[in-house]
Amino acid sequence: VKKPWTIAIDGPAGAGKSTVARILAQKLGYLYIDSGAMYRAIALHAQRQDVSPTEADQVAALARATPITFEPDDDAGGEQRVFLGGEDVTAAIRTPQIASLASEVSTIPGVRAALVQQQQALGLSGGVVMEGRDIGTVVFPNAEVKVFLTASPEERALRRHLDLQRRGMATATLEAVRADQDERDRRDETRAVSPLAPAPDAVVMDSDGIPPDQIADAILEIVDARRREA
Ligand code: DC
Repeated sequence: VKKPWTIAIDGPAGAGKSTVARILAQKLGYLYIDSGAMYRAIALHAQRQDVSPTEADQVAALARATPITFEPDDDAGGEQRVFLGGEDVTAAIRTPQIASLASEVSTIPGVRAALVQQQQALGLSGGVVMEGRDIGTVVFPNAEVKVFLTASPEERALRRHLDLQRRGMATATLEAVRADQDERDRRDETRAVSPLAPAPDAVVMDSDGIPPDQIADAILEIVDARRREA
């Protein structure tokens, strides 16, 4: 029996990674893991403990000491609930403020080391679709399939704005969402440790104007084709 595969989906915020990764995991019967949720959970934890993102050692200590776990949410079509040391923080980590704080704490090497370790443990026996920024480059460099999903900055900002509206948090204008996104992109792409970039062996896909289920189907075709070769 072959070990189930690991599928890495990386890319910038708003490229559609979460929806695509969820559909893919459902179709393959794999576990879906949103690694960004882990950075967000640590950001929330630090905020609540009054630890500033500039206090790198303290934030890293929090990341090492706090287990983040996932549970499937049966009511929400393949979505999952996120727990920080046992507390359900699924909704609390989705605010724009935590997104921005997560981008800041994710530049701390000690935070990345702690979370990468947890992510690797989650994927130890394969059968996972993990999405993030460094999954194909750092977390699972041997993933059988790696996809780098992109979209234009305009389309990504529109999607995030719609997403915030759906969650009832649309206090920010589209322009503010875009400015926030540009700042986050810049930070994610230029940080010293594991900056956002496609792995050399990743398939780069542009999701502009393409619905997530079509992207998921295209990835499934890649998975099937590679399985036939394997
Ligand atoms: O995917 P997201 O927007 O929920 O991620 C929040 C932040 O976490 C993002 O700005 C960068 C960081 N992140 C990371 O550095 N590495 C990952 N594998 C996932 C997220």
